[in-house]
Amino acid sequence: MKRIAVLTSGGDCSGMNAAVRAIVRACLAAGVEIIGVHKGFQGLIDRQYELMDTKSVSNVLQRGGTFLQSARCKEMTEDAGQRLAAENLKGMGVEGLIVIGGDGSLKGAFSLSQRGTAVIGIPASIDNDIPFTDMALGVDTALNNIARAVDNIKDTASSHDRAFLVETMGRNCGYLAVVSAIACGAEYSLIPEEPYDLEEICQDLRRRYQQGRSNSIIMVAEGAGNAQLIAEQIKDKIGFETRTIVLGHYQRGGSPTVFDRLLAARFGQAAVENLLAGEHGKMIGLKNSKMQFTPLQEVISAGIRPIDKLLPRLSSNLAV
Ligand code: F6P
Repeated sequence: MKRIAVLTSGGDCSGMNAAVRAIVRACLAAGVEIIGVHKGFQGLIDRQYELMDTKSVSNVLQRGGTFLQSARCKEMTEDAGQRLAAENLKGMGVEGLIVIGGDGSLKGAFSLSQRGTAVIGIPASIDNDIPFTDMALGVDTALNNIARAVDNIKDTASSHDRAFLVETMGRNCGYLAVVSAIACGAEYSLIPEEPYDLEEICQDLRRRYQQGRSNSIIMVAEGAGNAQLIAEQIKDKIGFETRTIVLGHYQRGGSPTVFDRLLAARFGQAAVENLLAGEHGKMIGLKNSKMQFTPLQEVISAGIRPIDKLLPRLSSNLAV
């Protein structure tokens, strides 16, 4: 293999730059040319790319977002777009492609592998909803962002005897909400994977207030409901003041944690090594601290990564 390309796709996350850097440096070390495609699959369709050298990735390791930029590309979900992307890769002399992104991006990667491109996927999404990996890139940094925000909110919540609802991202996955509830000592976490009863929560909140615990944090995964609406319902039922904060895209940015930097380096190196060894059509994952490869077809057909049942139990036990 003489030339490999890399792209970042879908929602950006911290650690993408670190992964691109690792890929570029691993290619250069192996004497392989490396192309950076701009704006994800859209850049592949529009032929926006650059040949990279070691300087292309200096001073990016510690930066959040993706300097290659990203896009959500509708054309890539359609036959014509996939065909054009595959043809452009051939035209660029690219023999192997590394796709860094979430579930939609891995679907795009799979479609290209079906068309004969040698592809490896790297799971990257703050949601941690991608199966066959314990952690996706960007999750740890997002959790640290959330923890910083919740710690600050706890200060003001306790100063005013208020219940705060904190909405996290995650689409249909409650991982960010439940793990940050554990890490920050929140009283409740509402996640799409577990049914919740608002009446019960309100009774519990009243009991807590009567016992003198007059502030609380309720983490709400975006897939479990609208935090603002839930806050209004709670306020009407309990008569205490509530406030809401939607953390939104704040969660996605910022300098990657050491965990994400290391994971990016391991994913990037393993992607290049395996492409060069003729392994492709697969996604790398982190399983029991080791790199593990799973066919892209299995990854995209498995649905979202299930939440470990221990996590919601731990979250509610710790809040007794
Ligand atoms: O998949 C990552 C994610 O941040 C989700 O948690 C969120 O629902 C979505 O992307 C937001 O997408 P956008 O950045 O396109 O608004």
